[in-house]
Amino acid sequence: MGVTYTANGTSVCALADVSFETREREFLAVVGPSGCGKTTLLRVLAGLQEPTGGVVERITLPGDQAQRALLVFQENSLFPWMTVLENAAFGLEMQAVGRREREGRARAMLERFGLAGRERAYPHQLSVGMKQRVAVIRSFLSEPSLLLMDEPFAAADAQTRAGLQQELLAIWEQEHRSVIFVTHDVDEAILLSDRILVLSAQPGAVVAEFRVPFPRPRETTVTLDEQLLALKRRIWAKLDRTVKAPSRGAEGRPT
Ligand SMILES: Nc1ncnc2c1ncn2[C@@H]1O[C@H](COP(=O)(O)OP(=O)(O)OP(=O)(O)O)[C@@H](O)[C@H]1O
Ligand SMILES: [Mg+2]
Repeated sequence: MGVTYTANGTSVCALADVSFETREREFLAVVGPSGCGKTTLLRVLAGLQEPTGGVVERITLPGDQAQRALLVFQENSLFPWMTVLENAAFGLEMQAVGRREREGRARAMLERFGLAGRERAYPHQLSVGMKQRVAVIRSFLSEPSLLLMDEPFAAADAQTRAGLQQELLAIWEQEHRSVIFVTHDVDEAILLSDRILVLSAQPGAVVAEFRVPFPRPRETTVTLDEQLLALKRRIWAKLDRTVKAPSRGAEGRPT
């Protein structure tokens, strides 16, 4: 599928010909240079915009009434007027889960992830890392069949990010969901995912795909593993080439 934006008579081909499948319970990472169409891709998958060419097949997973995809945005997406507890429980509220149950489940998650005692705080009273933890908790409690994450940890400092990655892995290992995780950070992609898609610079297209063969649970130190460094080199080689590729005149044809 492809996406071309048209504004003021000029068109920008954001995604040329992106074609891939995800599997149930798979953690798929998407890496690619800035502006290659990663956010656009997630928006299409979330149903927030239509592809201008091609189709997105939404596979209904067994046991699910309907495929529900949920997008965690690049920027902070908590509701400023809701408390931490209300934010964390929001997805459950949308599913009409009763107050007692949703607050119980949200409290348990907040406690597990170091936010006990902060239930009544408002987002502006939290650190960046805490806000992102609440956003991740909210998304997991929403139980989407496909979780789409757009560089959710990009704004956090390196240490906070390492903590958030471990927390995301811990939650994911407990309740495997299908995740599509967009990131600039190759280490992050390797640490978290089962498979990595590399997108080319604008217009975005899948230029390579890598399996991540490391067993789980994974520790942050996995990024120092020799085998991993080899994988990282191979991914970088693909990324390098795509960054250097001239984007002018590239007329992607949406399929
Ligand atoms: N609403 C829009 N109208 C016109 N062009 C757009 C629109 N949204 C995105 N684009 C263009 O489409 C291309 C892809 O944008 P997108 O935000 O998907 O990239 P990205 O890979 O998420 O970038 P980043 O890594 O910086 O977040 C860019 O050239 C962008 O300028
Ligand atoms: Mg983006």
